[in-house]
Amino acid sequence: MKFFIDTANLDEIREAQALGVLDGVTTNPSLMAKEGISGEENVIQHYIDICEIVDGDVSAEVISTDFDGMVEEGNKLASLHKQIVVKIPMIKDGIKALKYFSDKGTKTNCTLVFSAGQALLAAKAGANYVSPFIGRLDDATTDGAELIAQIRHIYDNYGYETQILAASIRHSMHIIKCAEFGADVATCPLSAILGLLNHPLTDIGLAKFLADHKKANTVTA
Ligand code: E4P
Repeated sequence: MKFFIDTANLDEIREAQALGVLDGVTTNPSLMAKEGISGEENVIQHYIDICEIVDGDVSAEVISTDFDGMVEEGNKLASLHKQIVVKIPMIKDGIKALKYFSDKGTKTNCTLVFSAGQALLAAKAGANYVSPFIGRLDDATTDGAELIAQIRHIYDNYGYETQILAASIRHSMHIIKCAEFGADVATCPLSAILGLLNHPLTDIGLAKFLADHKKANTVTA
């Protein structure tokens, strides 16, 4: 399973990249706003900065909601860097835009997906990635991880190559569930990735190994 980081914070992206397990980045307009990035030039520069930190795909979301606007914006974003993936919302004109970019060979990520039907449409339109938002489904008392399993089943039935990019991940257990249910990618906050490291028995075991080593190597008078 690939690990993407879901942030526009350059320090967090650098930290995840330095771990050596990062495969890409997803951003969205809210994450960009959280970092105080505004104005076309700054937004463009920020995407380029992100691409220069990581080796993998970087999702950049369009703001337009009509076909022509999404095409114009998406083409501009895709021309910034070869790692840019154009992120398109799951709306009617979005489906048309996904098909347009798929025919053109531009990579896309269909975002704001909350149902199997939406995921099926995204795959038929040729999206490279589909982003089911599992945390927001959980918030609405629907099991988000179950949707990953359902989409996996449907895509495998027909051999769709669209990658399931589990999004809106809130904690490490979400990552485990996504891995169990066959997501191709999990896009996570840094804290959820780092949370995978933790186990008290690891800490206890390491403390004992180090203490035993110290005891055995202490020269007694
Ligand atoms: C995915 O690409 C989205 O940017 C993101 O995962 C949304 O997460 P949230 O529900 O925590 O805002």
